[in-house]
Amino acid sequence: MSKQTEKIKALVEKRELARLGGGQKAIDKQHERGKYTARERIEMLVDKGSFEEYDMFKLHRCHNFGMEKKQFLGDGVVAGSATIDGRLVYLYAQDFTVNGGSLSETMAQKICKVMDMAMTNGAPVICMNDSGGARIQEGISALAGYGEIFERNILASGVIPQISSILGPCAGGAVYSPALTDFIIMKEQTSYMFLTGPKVVKTVTGEDIDAEHLGGASVHASKSGVTSFTAKTEEDAMELIKKLLSYIPSNNREEAPRVECTDPIDRKEDLLNEIIPDDPNQAYDMYKVIQAVTDNGEFFEVQPKFAKNIITGFARFNGQSVGIVANQPSAYAGVLDVNASRKGARFVRFCDAFNIPIVSLVDVPGFLPGTGQEYNAVILHGAQLLYAYGEATVPKITITLRKSYGGSHIVMGCKQLRSDLNFAWPSSEIAVMGASGAVAVLCGKEARQVKEQGGDVKQFLAEKEEEYSEKFANPYQAAQFGYIDDVIEPRNTRFRICRGLAQLAHKKQDLPAKKHGCMPM
Ligand code: HXC
Repeated sequence: MSKQTEKIKALVEKRELARLGGGQKAIDKQHERGKYTARERIEMLVDKGSFEEYDMFKLHRCHNFGMEKKQFLGDGVVAGSATIDGRLVYLYAQDFTVNGGSLSETMAQKICKVMDMAMTNGAPVICMNDSGGARIQEGISALAGYGEIFERNILASGVIPQISSILGPCAGGAVYSPALTDFIIMKEQTSYMFLTGPKVVKTVTGEDIDAEHLGGASVHASKSGVTSFTAKTEEDAMELIKKLLSYIPSNNREEAPRVECTDPIDRKEDLLNEIIPDDPNQAYDMYKVIQAVTDNGEFFEVQPKFAKNIITGFARFNGQSVGIVANQPSAYAGVLDVNASRKGARFVRFCDAFNIPIVSLVDVPGFLPGTGQEYNAVILHGAQLLYAYGEATVPKITITLRKSYGGSHIVMGCKQLRSDLNFAWPSSEIAVMGASGAVAVLCGKEARQVKEQGGDVKQFLAEKEEEYSEKFANPYQAAQFGYIDDVIEPRNTRFRICRGLAQLAHKKQDLPAKKHGCMPM
């Protein structure tokens, strides 16, 4: 065997050793926990044979607490580039088989390297979290490593898409890296995110709670809104990432990939002409409207379990990716509240940062009143949604289906927030408020007089409400002032959106020069 052949053989062996991470025993334990290894996860996600690994031979440099005996090639993270559906991505997967995936200084360097490459080459970065957090033996160096990663998350925000999948523990300050990314996917049952674990919670507040109820996938999907998606299995999580990527561009200078569309753009949906109930207080399902208008009825929902009164997600019109924001009349009458505003604002900002047009489907009775909302700063959160819409310069098309009252009318993509095309169905009610509220304010004095004179107050109020509805519960006052561009037949909605998007394909709009705005938070 020549010297060269020997060296190549040694390289192959070294690679094989590196691929074992923390060793076969640790891999078996990882499988027993119901989790895949870092490399298995990467393989599941990327195009076959496309993964190119970097820093496979990197070693940590810590000697504290016997760490010299816990050296594994590549340390606790697998990092590199690959393609997904032929598109370049950078990714890293924390390797729990190596010191619990805990973050060392050298791991941070590996992660930062692929993040820097992703920025240089304009490609999304995907992280797979499964880690015990900062490597305790390295002290401040591990914390500094997190700082380096966070700074890159911040600088990459709005430049390249950043996607986090949480597939194991993610605790302490470590949660802030995923939190700084655009989308989080949590695997049910085996993943959790919290700032302080159950033991610390018990010590500090006396509260008895387990990890799942404190920071499991279901908690963050439905209560906190921290996660964008949940997945039953790791395979499902990877499929979600692929699907998400199909709707978004690789960076903020590109458009999302366009797909061939076989669904006719002028497809009329008669069911839309019938969908609005005669009773204005009766609900209907906005998902049916979305399904009726998008290409092939497809919709990829973001945060489906959180703030169900607003629906956010991606769809396509004539093959073009768009973000849909829609009030949901069948969940709390589609009212806007703190959580709906936060959810909507975050989504609108992502779409705007990445050149994805926004289509808004409006049926909103207003903002939810009460101390619960006011004490939780509904003013600021509502302003966030307002700010997001007003700041967005991507093509914006707003369809008003039914109610569009007061502040919520302005917030949900009205003309004055530089929406490009505003259409209304004939069933629209665009006004300062609903009839009963308006009459209570305007006719209180008269109602008292009717009562004093022994008249029928109920009938009086009903007549006034009728008068108000006739005047304001329609789209024509707004149309009269040009605040909506056209009143359209509901069954033509798909066609009007498709044609509108084609018209706005080369839209160019700028914001005044500034360092950055001060978004209400
Ligand atoms: C060093 C760690 C570690 C850590 C786990 N390990 N976490 N080593 N630093 N943070 C090691 C363990 O010693 C063990 O090594 C191996 O990883 C597997 O861990 P186990 O405990 O055996 O696994 P499991 O029972 O599944 O429990 C996983 C765990 C637990 C829940 C994550 O290990 C744990 O509670 N770890 C500490 C979590 C934590 O408090 N981290 C600090 C968070 S604060 P051996 O050699 O025995 O196999 C933080 C600050 C970030 O991260 C700040 C950013 C600004």
